[in-house]
Amino acid sequence: MKAAPIRPYASQLHRGLEGHGKGCSLAARRPARNACVVYSFRPFRNTDPPHIARIWASQPAQRGLAQPVSTTVSEQCLFAKHYFDPKGLIIAEHQGKVVGFVHAGFGPNEAGDAISTEVGVTYMLMVDVDLWTTDLADQLLRQGEDYLRSHGAKTLYAGGIHPYNAFYLGLYGGSALPGLLLSDVHFRPLVVRNQYREQDRMVVLHRNLVGYRPQVTRNQRRIGRQVVFESIHAPETKTWWDTSVYGGLDRIRFCLRDRRDQTLLAAVSFWDLEPLATSWGLQAAGMYDFSVDESVRRKGYGTYLMGEALKELQQRGISLVEAQTLMTNAPAQELYKSLGFAPVDHGLIYRRDA
Ligand SMILES: CC(C)(COP(=O)(O)OP(=O)(O)OC[C@H]1O[C@@H](n2cnc3c(N)ncnc32)[C@H](O)[C@@H]1OP(=O)(O)O)[C@@H](O)C(=O)NCCC(=O)NCCS
Repeated sequence: MKAAPIRPYASQLHRGLEGHGKGCSLAARRPARNACVVYSFRPFRNTDPPHIARIWASQPAQRGLAQPVSTTVSEQCLFAKHYFDPKGLIIAEHQGKVVGFVHAGFGPNEAGDAISTEVGVTYMLMVDVDLWTTDLADQLLRQGEDYLRSHGAKTLYAGGIHPYNAFYLGLYGGSALPGLLLSDVHFRPLVVRNQYREQDRMVVLHRNLVGYRPQVTRNQRRIGRQVVFESIHAPETKTWWDTSVYGGLDRIRFCLRDRRDQTLLAAVSFWDLEPLATSWGLQAAGMYDFSVDESVRRKGYGTYLMGEALKELQQRGISLVEAQTLMTNAPAQELYKSLGFAPVDHGLIYRRDA
């Protein structure tokens, strides 16, 4: 896997949607601090990406927020997705100026072969940096929730979390969408004061690969003699949803197979963590789908696979690997710790009934 620069791509899907939301404008009065200010809300239009890019660029620097996000990149990660609905990206205006947006959407059904609207997600919400102290963001959150409810959502999440990862992979969070990051200075406090409750917590871990050497123990040498280590570029995705989310990413999968009968013993995948890694000024890979067959757990296969995988990524010029796991997943956390990963942040999964 090479560390790719931000990639241009072709998209036609949102073209021709201009004017889609005409007549949907809603006016909402902002109380208290600026009682006389009235915002209007409307669906996304094709002319909005530069305004979204401006608002995005005005945000304070945060570890988990890619900067800058050009219109080309936002098109790739957002508007080009074939399930992108302009009505779910609601724009706030004040006196004709775009001052904020909320992006609400859905995830897959259980089979991963279609969208389900049972669960709604507020994927992103931003306002001009000077307006975070007003209640514009609260109004936008409600606008997004209304959109989700109107499509039948019974449960609402704030921030994407697998498998509700339709948008923003690479722009927010890291190797996966982690709910909302503890380091998130505006969006997370907003949802906390709007009755969302923490359901679970992820830990975000980093491993610097500069000077990395895998463990050499007698057990690891024995495993090395028993297995075949394989690299698969652009591996096949399992479902329609996985193809939609990961298909366009630069990915590599590493597998361990039993040398005698080729049985799959363990596998792990990585993707080129762009454009976030460019914001960090390095070449980074995000880890996902790491699993060791149940029959051979706690025998050192996970350690061996990761050791070989990290060595190969290092040789390909990757200098940092990010992993995320649930705080409740003790085996994974112990394994990462033993491999030299260290926590850098947490992801908080927020939910409320619709
Ligand atoms: C997490 C997982 C990949 C570990 O693979 P593994 O091959 O069993 O791990 P290893 O045998 O190499 O263990 C290495 C170290 O990790 C820790 N570890 C592994 N399994 C553990 C467990 N069940 N409880 C506590 N620590 C554990 C230990 O420190 C272990 O070293 P030790 O055996 O010398 O004490 C495996 O349990 C798994 O596939 N789990 C389900 C999928 C998953 O959770 N993936 C990670 C998602 S982020």
